Amino acid sequence: MTPLSRRNGHLHFEEVALTALAERHGTPLYVYSAGAIEARYRAFAAAFRSHPHRVCYAVKANSNLAVLQLLAQLGAGFDIVSGGELERVLLAGGDPAGIVFSGVGKTVAEMERALEVGVACFNVESKAELLRLEAVAKRLGVVAPVSLRVNPDVDAATHPYISTGLKENKFGVSISDAAALYRYAADAQALAVTGVDCHIGSQLTTLEPFVDALDRVLALVEALNRDGIELAHIDLGGGLGVRYQDETPPGIDAYATAILERLGHRREALMFEPGRWLVGEAGVFLTRVEYVKENEGRHFLVVDGAMNDLLRPALYGSFHGIEPVFDRPGTPAVEVDVVGPVCESSDFLGKNRMLAAAAGDLLAVTTAGAYGFGMASNYNSRNRAAEVLVRGEQDFLVRRRETTADQLAFEQLLPPLPVSD
Ligand code: LLP
Repeated sequence: MTPLSRRNGHLHFEEVALTALAERHGTPLYVYSAGAIEARYRAFAAAFRSHPHRVCYAVKANSNLAVLQLLAQLGAGFDIVSGGELERVLLAGGDPAGIVFSGVGKTVAEMERALEVGVACFNVESKAELLRLEAVAKRLGVVAPVSLRVNPDVDAATHPYISTGLKENKFGVSISDAAALYRYAADAQALAVTGVDCHIGSQLTTLEPFVDALDRVLALVEALNRDGIELAHIDLGGGLGVRYQDETPPGIDAYATAILERLGHRREALMFEPGRWLVGEAGVFLTRVEYVKENEGRHFLVVDGAMNDLLRPALYGSFHGIEPVFDRPGTPAVEVDVVGPVCESSDFLGKNRMLAAAAGDLLAVTTAGAYGFGMASNYNSRNRAAEVLVRGEQDFLVRRRETTADQLAFEQLLPPLPVSD
């Protein structure tokens, strides 16, 4: 289900006209649909209802507190990668016992805090991290739950920047080294082996890499069992793709069928860390046309949103749909580049789009709910956009627009210094 519909020429998100949101909250603006997030979460959980499982939302995809709160209320667990994400989840009402802590560079302070609140497990990515975790747990007099993130060396066939399961990536422990580390963890008093984890990449549009990765993980689980090590869960990470343009990612039921079939009668609980699939299509980025410009026959719409707001086109060359928020009947569409005000040639939201738009018009950049605001910055000293959550006919401002005073609050001028001549 997409929350977007066009009624009398005007784009709506759930029951709210996007024009009204732009008037009320200004632009650029992120808008999320509570209904779409909820529908996706329920569909994911329903697809795996025949097997014990937990859906741990990957917070990095969209870490707005209200989004986390919504998912916590639905019963989601959370996949975090930093102390900051941990505090967000706790503040949003997430249950610490539903949190898995991923990431290659966990600091001592992050481990301490996660142990203190009692996360479900650490997805450990190296021997050095395992030893550090053991030392921290020992010092605190607690037992750290451990799941090793293994690198199954499968090609996720996605953009190289978001592929993580190949042996040349920095992520995880190679499957061949994993058995020895499990043996070590099983013997360590301050560590408790709970599961195994893998995440091979993001925006995957076929099932094969998931199934290949699972096969390799299952071979490891069987070897561990022979060695007397039992696991409580198998975490298959996130990565299921969404539709930005003309991709045809598998549906959640096909994904679940493929995985459950491969799992056979194994009893370990399944865990998942979906991010994009839950929130990607549940968000749009609203931006207003400031200028219409022509250079040597090339047409540009200069808009008030930029690469600092939505980095994906600049960083990965990603495609996002761009739709006029209201129709302009009678105005012919022309081929345009939709560009922002940032001083970089990579500052574009879309290229070669057929659009009929004039200065002052609103554009909706679609499928912007994942890795949109979360990757935003203050580059060019731009204030980050506001975020709004829509539910039915209601809309809630869930992050106010930044001000320049907000940006300057962290900085300090130098004290008077002697001036050298
Ligand atoms: N688990 C782990 C350990 C991850 O590293 C990630 C994403 C996920 C789960 C969630 O993956 P998802 O279900 O969202 O595919 N900024 C990039 C995507 C980076 C993904 C990083 N890891 C983009 O905009 O495409």
